[in-house]
Order: sequence, then C-alpha cells, then structure tokens
Amino acid sequence: MDNTYLDERLNFPSTTRNREAIAQVLSNYISANGLFLEIASGSGEHGVFFQKTFPSIIWQTSDPEFIHRKSIISWINYLGLSSKMPEPLDIDVEKRPWPITNSLSSLIKGIVCINMIHISPWSCTKAMFEESKCYLEQNHFLMLYGPFLMKEKQTSESNMNFDQSLKLQNPQWGLRHLDQVNKIAFKNGFKLDKVIEMPANNVSVIYRLS
Ligand SMILES: C[S@@+](CC[C@H](N)C(=O)[O-])C[C@H]1O[C@@H](n2cnc3c(N)ncnc32)[C@H](O)[C@@H]1O
Repeated sequence: MDNTYLDERLNFPSTTRNREAIAQVLSNYISANGLFLEIASGSGEHGVFFQKTFPSIIWQTSDPEFIHRKSIISWINYLGLSSKMPEPLDIDVEKRPWPITNSLSSLIKGIVCINMIHISPWSCTKAMFEESKCYLEQNHFLMLYGPFLMKEKQTSESNMNFDQSLKLQNPQWGLRHLDQVNKIAFKNGFKLDKVIEMPANNVSVIYRLS
C-alpha cells in the first residue's frame, strides 16, 4: 500500500470566519440523514466542517477546478473523513446535466452554494436553479450564501467596494440583486423560505422547491 500522503489542502481564510454561522443556519434545514450537495466547494474547508458538525448525514462536495477538488480530497483525508465523505464531484453548473447518477440523486435532500453567484457570470446563477430542480423533490431546499444587493437595505461600503473589485477582475462578475435571483428561483418552481442576515454583511437565502 502507498502510504505517501500528498498534502494539497488550500486555505480560504473566510471559511473559518463564517462556517459556524452557516452551520447554525443549516442546522434548521438538515434532516437527520440523507445527502446534501454542495456546489462550488472551493478548498473543501466548509465541506469537512459541515460533515463533522452533522455526522449523521453525507456531505457531497463539488467544484469544477481540479486544484480545488485535490484540496477537498486532501482535507477529507487529513481529517480522517474518507469512510464517511465521498470524493468531490466535478460539477460546473453550466455543464449540464451534472454528473449525478440516479442513485445519488435519490439521496439528495438539499443543495448548498456558498459564495459562487457573484464570482461567476449571471448565466451560472440561472444554470444552478434550472439544474438543481432536477435533483430535488418538493420541499427540498436550495441555500445560497454570500453578499447580495437588497432594495430594502443600503449596501455597505465594504460590499460596494467588493462589487467594484469583482467587476474589475471580470465584468461578468459582481454582487447580485436578491430580487433578480428570486425571479430566476420562482421561474424554476422554487419559493422563498427565508432570508437571514449573516455576519460581515452576508446573507443566507433559503428556497424550497414547490
Ligand atoms: C469564492 S470561491 C468560494 C468557494 C467556497 N464555497 C467558499 O465559500 O470558500 C468560488 C468557487 O466557485 C467555483 N465556481 C466558479 N465557477 C463555477 C461554475 N461555473 N460552476 C461551479 N462552481 C464554480 C470556483 O471554482 C470556486 O471554488
């Protein structure tokens, strides 16, 4: 047996700051068992934290970036979670259908996407709702987390600066208007369950499939 262990873990510093608050929100939506699919898992630090926090469920990570999937695998191995947690899937929300088998699909009870929709083109947000509904049943949830523009709330200076810096990196990126995200959600059969203000001017938005 090859005992060499290649440590390819990445550190995304914000994950240690926001993971507990996100887990607190998730605790109200996660059922005792079942599988929860994370889109855009990044380094995998959220994924392993949620798997440890909710040991009775299966947390299925995914990311289109090879280096991120390597990091996720590394975190899973480092924390000794490989008997519980599957390897990440290579999901790019725009490459449809997603590589999800029927047996996996039948286990999915919710989909979570943290900090992706402002760091990808708007077409990714649309694709996520259009495709997510194929793997969810009525009342299952889709949760988004990140900074949003909201008409009833003044945008913080830090979020305005963040929006500008994103647009400089890629004109197709930028903070999304919650109203516009809701419109896409409703068009795809989701209803808004809750909008929860989170630390550091972020928001958790939870939809349920009608
Ligand atoms: C800012 S990182 C967030 C990572 C992690 N969720 C977190 O909060 O630390 C954005 C992630 O979105 C992923 N991403 C970008 N475009 C995507 C797409 N079309 N489909 C799925 N994931 C995508 C990137 O690979 C990256 O991991």
